[in-house]
Order: sequence, then structure tokens, then C-alpha cells
Amino acid sequence: MPDFFSAIKSSDNPPVYKYFCDGEWMTSKSGKTIEIFSPVTNEPIGKIQSLTEEEIDEAIDAGFWAQMAWAKVPLDKRARILHLAADWLRDSTNLTNLANLLTLEIGKTTADAEDEIIRTADLIDYFAEEGRNLRGETLESDSFPGYEKDKQAIIARVPRGVILSISPFNYPINLSASKIAPALMIGNAVIVKPATQGCLSTLHLVEIFRKAGLPAGIMNTVTGEGSEIGDYLVTHPKISMVCFTGSTLVGERIAEKTGMIPLLFECGGNNPAVVLDNADLELASREIIKGAFSYSGQRCTAVKYVLAQDLVMDKLTPKLLDQLDKLVKLGDPREKTTKMVGPLVNKQAAETVENRVIKAKVAGVKILVGGKKQGLYFEPTILDEVRPDLEIVRSETFGPVLSLIKVKNINEAITIINSSFYGLQACIFTQDEGTAIKLGQRINVGTVQINSKPQRGPDHFPFMGVKGSGVGVQGVHYTLEAMTRLKSVVLNKPE
Ligand code: NAP
Ligand code: G3H
Repeated sequence: MPDFFSAIKSSDNPPVYKYFCDGEWMTSKSGKTIEIFSPVTNEPIGKIQSLTEEEIDEAIDAGFWAQMAWAKVPLDKRARILHLAADWLRDSTNLTNLANLLTLEIGKTTADAEDEIIRTADLIDYFAEEGRNLRGETLESDSFPGYEKDKQAIIARVPRGVILSISPFNYPINLSASKIAPALMIGNAVIVKPATQGCLSTLHLVEIFRKAGLPAGIMNTVTGEGSEIGDYLVTHPKISMVCFTGSTLVGERIAEKTGMIPLLFECGGNNPAVVLDNADLELASREIIKGAFSYSGQRCTAVKYVLAQDLVMDKLTPKLLDQLDKLVKLGDPREKTTKMVGPLVNKQAAETVENRVIKAKVAGVKILVGGKKQGLYFEPTILDEVRPDLEIVRSETFGPVLSLIKVKNINEAITIINSSFYGLQACIFTQDEGTAIKLGQRINVGTVQINSKPQRGPDHFPFMGVKGSGVGVQGVHYTLEAMTRLKSVVLNKPE
């Protein structure tokens, strides 16, 4: 059977991938490619095109002109294309091939990679259905003092134009589709800038959308190092909105550059777990360990530190160590077990985690378990007697490290959380839901989870960060709304 994805790459080993513009897979005139290495095998697995500014212009122009016709395509037809793309993702051969690629490219376990793909297919289907129902409204003038019933506003929801999607390395399929699908469903064109590490997986997703029947020009890819092409892309005059998921540092840079266009940003997280004295400690320890160590802590929603009073922490700590032993094993992510935790995404990521742990140790922190780097792997690590002013707590440490912080009382815990530069999620463990809700209302983050680890899903729930963690709200309905604007036509009908 011919390879479903043969159009996107050469037959070399490793293959040279193309970029997608105006309905064609192309090779850049720059002659420059970027080699992608697997963090699992340390071997090259592909090369991607490094685009010139002229090629970026062509990709955005293609989107700009194609969007006007696309916005007129019936919603039902757009929904059908999305559903077909979701079906191609679920196709068992595509699922297996894509999951294996995801594992090789970003070091996610095969089980987690399969989950990411299935979740993405479900998400695309949901966007298609919810998008059918997104509507405007009409307003009559007479409800405002001083007006008669002589005006009517016909308020439509219209697409914004060309959406720029910039996605991170850790969910190259899901966090690209979470921007591509709503943009397309609502009648926008989309320019897809994948993370360089993760790009191979995202290019496969793009091919799936192409094969599902998207007309030429509506979706185009732009590949190359973000640090080189990013400023040019985000300041391009034909980009109507930037939808970015990635680090706070890059998010801040983009926000400085873009000027007056709408932004939808999901950035870094540094999420605490608060454990109260009446918590179910088995549940709390299980959730905290899963939350801290799945995908080696490389999730914006990972639990990064635990806050508890002395006695609670003394009881919780052995349970955390016990759960770590039961649930987590460092090793090859291709192994078929949910216990496995793989390598970090690259050398720089592993060194950053190592340096933070060394600095914490020098500052007097006790390493209960782990603490060492082995190539790209970092041992699952629990740090005790951690102070909230240390870098390991203040900054997002994108790796498998959990810090334990003892607090005098709940007010101190809330002060620590609310002083953080980040504000994505927090979780509270207690058997008293009333107390949890009251505490949740005092914590300044996007979402507070009660008796569960922080998490983004289910994907129709609103997902948002405050402070350094983001701008705007994602989640199926919210993203569709954000990718449209209101357009009002007022009918004046004087007597
Ligand atoms: P990153 O380094 O910020 O990169 C994210 C994306 O931005 C990549 O596509 C990158 O391209 C691009 N980029 C880099 N510099 C740019 C520039 N100057 N202008 C425009 N784009 C630029 O993040 P990452 O390391 O891939 O992902 C990890 C981070 O993402 C963590 O902080 C994590 O918390 C966050 N994240 C947040 C969420 C959320 O929903 N809140 C979800 C997932 C991840 P290159 O790869 O080519 O550099
Ligand atoms: O990395 C950030 C992702 O948005 C986290 O999603 O909670 O489903 O792993 P998740």
C-alpha cells in the first residue's frame, strides 16, 4: 500500500520534509534545511525546510486571497472536511505511524502519543459540531433609554482573516489542531508555524487536512527557527490574529512586537498542589505524582510544588515516594507501559533542569529521590525543605522535579501561590468540598482543580492562564468565538 504521507517528504533516509503552500508541497529556494534529531535514539530522523521571507510572504498571501472564498463555503461542507480529517487521524495505520513518530520526535511514551492523537481526532469532531452553531444575534434599540423601536442591529460573527498558529514541541499534533480546526471551521485561513522539534509530526497532520479536501491556499505551513523567522511572521501586515502556545518568554516577545491585533496565548505554568489536613492522602499522592512526572514534567499543567502544613507533609511524603515507585519508571518511551517516563526533549532542556536542581541543593534543599541527569534523561526527583523564593519554585522547571514546601497555615499557602509570576492552574486536596470551593475562589489562577491533578481536558472546558500564563481563553466554544469578530449592520427605520 502506498505511504499515505509520501507527498510530504523525500525518499531519503532520513527524509527531507517539504513545506506546504497554496496546495503544493514545496522545497525552499533558500537551500537551507534544519536537521531534526530524536531525543530517544539521538539519531537524525528528518530535515525540514528553512523558509525565506519571500516564501513566508507567498504563504501568507495565499491564505489572504483564499480566505475570502473559503468564508463563503457552507458551514456543513467545512464541518465535513474536519470530520474526514478526524477519521484519517483515527485510521489504525495512520494512528500507529503517527504515534511512533511522535515518540521518536519528542520522546513522549507511545501510550501518551496514541492518547494525543485520539484526543485530537475527538477535538476536531467537536470543533466541527460546535462551529455549526456559532451565531450572531439581533438587538432592538428600544431597550435603551431614549430610543424608540426604530433601529435594529444585525450582529454577525465573521472570521478574522488569516490566523497565525504557533505551537510548542510538547503536543505537536494536538496543540496545532486546536488552532487549525477552529480557524478553518469558522472561515479563516491558517498559517501553521510548528515548533521546530515537533515539526515532522505537525506536517503529517497538515497532510491529513489536505487529504480531507481543503482547497488550496487555506492552510499553509511556515517552517524554520522561531528565533529567525518569528519577528517577521508575527508582524506581517496580512496576519489578523496570533494564536500562540509556548513559553512565557517567547509569548512576551511576540506581544511586544505585534501591535494592535488580537492575541490568544497559552504560556508557561508553575502549578501548585495544596494538601489540607482532611485530604484523602492516597488520592492526593497518586494525583500529584502523575501530575508531576507524566511526560517527564514537560506539560504546562504539571504539578511543580506541593504546599502543606508540617504534620500533613510528614504523612504525605512517604506516600509520594511510594506512588513514585509504583507509577513511574525512567526508560525508553517506546516500551509499552504507562509507567515509563522518557528523555527530555533536548540537551539544553536537560541541562536547565540539572542546573536548577544543583542550585537548589547548594541553597540547602534536600534531595529525597533522583536529582541526576543521565544523557537526556533526568531522574524523577522530589526535593524537600524547599523555600518558595528559590529559582526551582519561582521559574517553570520543564522537567521531572517536584518541590515540597511546608507552610504554617493556609493563608501562607495562598500568599505563595498568588505571589507567583504564573497563574495557569492549581489543585486542592480535601474531603471538604465547601472549603475547597472557598479556597479556590481566593487563588489567582485560570482554573483550580479540586481533588485532581491540574489538566487541560476535557477540551471543551475553558482553559486559560492569568499573569505570565496567558492571554484569552481556549476550549472549543471559546476558541471559536475568539477566532471570530462581531460585525454589526444597523438598520434604521424612522417612522
Ligand atoms: P517555545 O520555545 O516558547 O516555542 C513555542 C513556539 O514558538 C515554537 O513554535 C517556536 O519555534 C516558536 N518561537 C520561538 N521563538 C519565536 C519568536 N521569536 N517569534 C515567534 N515564534 C517563536 O516553547 P516550547 O519549548 O516549544 O514549549 C514549552 C513551553 O510551552 C513551556 O513553557 C510550556 O509551559 C508551554 N506550553 C504552554 C501550554 C499552555 O496551554 N499553557 C501548552 C503547551 C506548552 P521554534 O521551535 O522554531 O523555536
Ligand atoms: O503543556 C500543556 C498542555 O496544554 C497540557 O495539557 O493537561 O492535557 O497534558 P494536558
